[in-house]
Amino acid sequence: QRVIFSLIQPTGIPHLGNYLGALRRWKELQDEKTAPTKKRRRNNRLIFGLADLHSLTLKQDREVRRQNSRQTFASLLALGLDPNRSALFLQSQIQEHAELMWILSNVASTGYLSRMTQWKDKIGVGKDASMEQLDEKAREKLKLSLFSYPVLQAADILLYRPNFVPVGEDQLQHVEFTRQLARSFNSAYARDLKAPTFNLPEVMLSPAKRIMSLQQPEKKMSKSDPDVNSRILITDAPDEIRNKIRKAKTDSVEGPLTYDPEKRPGVSNLIEILKHVTRSSKSCEEITQELQDTTLGALKALVAEEIVKNLDGIKEKYDAIMAAGDKEIHSAMVLGTRVARAKAGNTMKHVREAVGLYVPE
Ligand code: TYM
Repeated sequence: QRVIFSLIQPTGIPHLGNYLGALRRWKELQDEKTAPTKKRRRNNRLIFGLADLHSLTLKQDREVRRQNSRQTFASLLALGLDPNRSALFLQSQIQEHAELMWILSNVASTGYLSRMTQWKDKIGVGKDASMEQLDEKAREKLKLSLFSYPVLQAADILLYRPNFVPVGEDQLQHVEFTRQLARSFNSAYARDLKAPTFNLPEVMLSPAKRIMSLQQPEKKMSKSDPDVNSRILITDAPDEIRNKIRKAKTDSVEGPLTYDPEKRPGVSNLIEILKHVTRSSKSCEEITQELQDTTLGALKALVAEEIVKNLDGIKEKYDAIMAAGDKEIHSAMVLGTRVARAKAGNTMKHVREAVGLYVPE
């Protein structure tokens, strides 16, 4: 059996980057469980959910927050995650996440955390900024939760002792940190025990590891970008998809199409998207070669149609789930929470034993 675990922040309906980078993979892993041929069938134990505690690092109106969680959960169901084959839950429903985070904080070094890039990104200082260089204002902005975000993420992962964590490239640093914490914990507390408390989870990186913004293709596609044209949501209607792709920023380089993420980021991102939505095994260079004589307009039309095909049916399912009130969401959550709680409780028993905290009978 392979245990596979991943979360998504509930900051609204997922976009094409989330989909190609992670969610589509989650669904494929689920389908492997019931594949028609034995050869393809895998015994995957799947645990997925919403990192709603993490999303507290983003200031939001409480109604918006509640609505976002609902929408994100409905999106997971709409894209075909099935609560009977994948446990789907909310991080905040399982108190062990916060508990394990505190315990792991005792082996998490602030030096390592200060070198990580996400908090720098969020408070708008350069990737190479050091703690000492922060001015008063930046320090005020850098809340403890943003700084210790990776420790909570490590707790999420380690609680379920997964073998694999399917994520996009922006999460590599966090999984690497998680492995480091697991090692530190094992050597600090579990050296004399029969088995280490934590195993070292591995990243399962999707080939579509980094989809870029349609408007600023040198930045990744992101839910927090104020420009709605920068991303395609998995519930966008076909005409919205066509429109956003038509408006996607490219360039005015003359001559044949070329794939060059440095010099032609916009065009290259479209080719990249095309490769992944068509699940092509060819390289981006080969695909570009074949499309050499295609105009930019025709490339955009082609990409848009392939995205439309890929996301076909998701919007309808999403609308139906949202229209039906909370029934389907609620019953999926009950199932998933039960699975998550059992697993988390079990791990915490081992953790409490390892560190010498009271373990109730
Ligand atoms: P989040 O919510 O930002 O993203 C969810 C997933 O989508 C992937 N992703 C992308 N992949 C390709 N191109 C993009 N432009 C793109 N944008 C996002 C992300 O890599 C991720 O897999 N910190 C996490 C949530 C989290 C988590 C965890 C993940 C909390 N605890 C434990 C795994 C395990 C995050 O903010 O993901």
